[in-house]
Amino acid sequence: MNNSSTLRYLFPHQETSKTAQGQVIWLYGLSGAGKSTIAHAAKNKLLSSNKKCFVLDGDDLRTGLNSDLGFSDHDRQENLRRAGEVARLLSYTTDIVICTFITPFNDIRGVIHGIMQGQSYKEVFIDTPLSECERRDVKGLYKKARQGLIKDFTGIDSPFEKPISPDLVISTREKSIDMCADELLKLI
Ligand code: ADX
Repeated sequence: MNNSSTLRYLFPHQETSKTAQGQVIWLYGLSGAGKSTIAHAAKNKLLSSNKKCFVLDGDDLRTGLNSDLGFSDHDRQENLRRAGEVARLLSYTTDIVICTFITPFNDIRGVIHGIMQGQSYKEVFIDTPLSECERRDVKGLYKKARQGLIKDFTGIDSPFEKPISPDLVISTREKSIDMCADELLKLI
């Protein structure tokens, strides 16, 4: 199957045959690592150079499309599978889709990689240590997790596996948001 007939097969209701496919960039890291902040800073820079960009955010999907899912390993897998499929569809209508999800397990990262086959796709690990995420605790969730009020919280009683081969690691320590966004943009 050539590329345009594959697209017609996958998305029969879309006029995709003449549409160039955008790039998907997947940011992962702990809650509070700075994924969304860096993604939005990069998006603003892209918009100012006339590139269309969409940020697909874990918190947004979890309040809508994926509100039926929790944080068990199985539910995270399904959350991320759906997110991957949505990102792939969005890539037909925009230049760059930046996805921001914890994505804690290597096997789930592999599933997403599979969904993106034939697609311009890059994985970026936002490397902020747990101690720093917990110090920031922007949403107050780490405190609740430590008190046992939230179960299966990533980094506390649910693991975050060390990535095997991300395309880029952005270590956020002692760097401004602007510097992190610029590092990300070098991939695009
Ligand atoms: S993922 O593990 O499936 O990739 P996702 O990125 O969608 O997670 O959602 C993470 C967000 O959900 C966190 O930023 C946090 O705001 C919220 N959250 C609520 N409960 C948990 C939990 N048990 N573990 C991690 N994040 C949680």
